[in-house]
Amino acid sequence: MLSALAIANYRSLRQLTVPLGRLTVVTGPNGSGKSSVYRAMRLLAEIANGGAIRSLVREGGLSSTLWAGPERFSAAMLRGDAPVQGTTRSEPVALKLGFAGTEADEFGYAIDIGLPPPIPATAFSRDPEIKHETIWHGPLLRPAAQLVDRRGAALRLREGKGWQAIGRPIPAFASMMTEYADPHAAPEMLALREQMRSWRFYDHFRSDADAPARQPQLGTRTPVLANDGADLAAALQTIREIGDGEALDRAVDDAFPGARIQVRVNEDRFETLMHQHGLLRPLTAAELSDGTLRYLLWIAALLTPRPPALLVLNEPETSLHPDLLPALGRLVAQAARESQVIVVSHAARLIAALEDSGELQSVVLEKRFGETRIANLDMSEIPRWEWPVR
Ligand SMILES: Nc1ncnc2c1ncn2[C@@H]1O[C@H](COP(=O)(O)OP(=O)(O)OP(=O)(O)O)[C@@H](O)[C@H]1O
Ligand SMILES: [Mg+2]
Repeated sequence: MLSALAIANYRSLRQLTVPLGRLTVVTGPNGSGKSSVYRAMRLLAEIANGGAIRSLVREGGLSSTLWAGPERFSAAMLRGDAPVQGTTRSEPVALKLGFAGTEADEFGYAIDIGLPPPIPATAFSRDPEIKHETIWHGPLLRPAAQLVDRRGAALRLREGKGWQAIGRPIPAFASMMTEYADPHAAPEMLALREQMRSWRFYDHFRSDADAPARQPQLGTRTPVLANDGADLAAALQTIREIGDGEALDRAVDDAFPGARIQVRVNEDRFETLMHQHGLLRPLTAAELSDGTLRYLLWIAALLTPRPPALLVLNEPETSLHPDLLPALGRLVAQAARESQVIVVSHAARLIAALEDSGELQSVVLEKRFGETRIANLDMSEIPRWEWPVR
């Protein structure tokens, strides 16, 4: 299980360590940094998939994603007696992301991404560069716990008390995890990469008239709902056949009392039907309301017969009526029995329902002087974090 997520210099997250529990909710007012936390987690997963630099560039490049404030605030700046504008940076700019595990045998990982030195010989001179990557054992980075260490192009692996250098250089635009995957020399790197690749993210399902979830679909066994919900009918039928079909029926009835889901199979096409009180015929997915369709998508996502180690949900309350939020909270809490779950939300009723479920790590963000901070926890409740030095 992850114990902490750490972010530095990413948008409004100048320096933030987020404690993670079995079930964590990240909340806060508009502009406090919730979406940035979600996007930072996605970036970490993309590193393991080889797509992080590309998505950073898609976000507008490092110049727009890097923390736009000063390296640190002086007391005079905080009092308002000295201007923030006009101060210059003295350290190299670095976007840093990392996480650690609760147990001594779990891995921690950190990456440091910066700007390339000005070399005119390439058309890619604005691509961010990976300066440093590290893997260690246990909740806190200590030199003795370090297993893998990459500085620039040079990679070295722990060997007994010393280090073994790997001859092949790692290109600046690639993570060591996608570039060097020798299962014998570095099994921890491969294990960590597979762990990060298995993290599952769900974000704003489409529910417009042309939404993929509304169309009849090719049906094959689907233990993991696609991000666009296109395989909703197949995912629901898979839960019914190899997952917890009773939980599926309970979740539907919890949100829409008396309603029932059926998957109609027409040759190789699958279609979601919903039987409701007072109607002579069931409604097809094309006929369901936005909120109802979204709720069914959450059911399919959360009752997956193949739960991931980590499930990250971005604003699952979107377009749901507040009356549905307690039921959604129960569904999320149930998923947290199988997976570690992080929910980014600003729906008070959803958060209240999650609180009722027992163990909840609540993280309330606020913005002060343009910087995201944790408003509801004091220093002792935030895990210690050490970044590797460049
Ligand atoms: N490079 C940057 N440096 C500093 N702050 C930034 C940078 N880029 C964006 N921001 C600010 O970061 C803040 C956090 O944005 P974010 O989208 O994470 O907020 P949010 O909590 O999701 O808000 P909402 O509830 O409105 O969706 C915004 O106020 C934005 O102006
Ligand atoms: Mg947001």
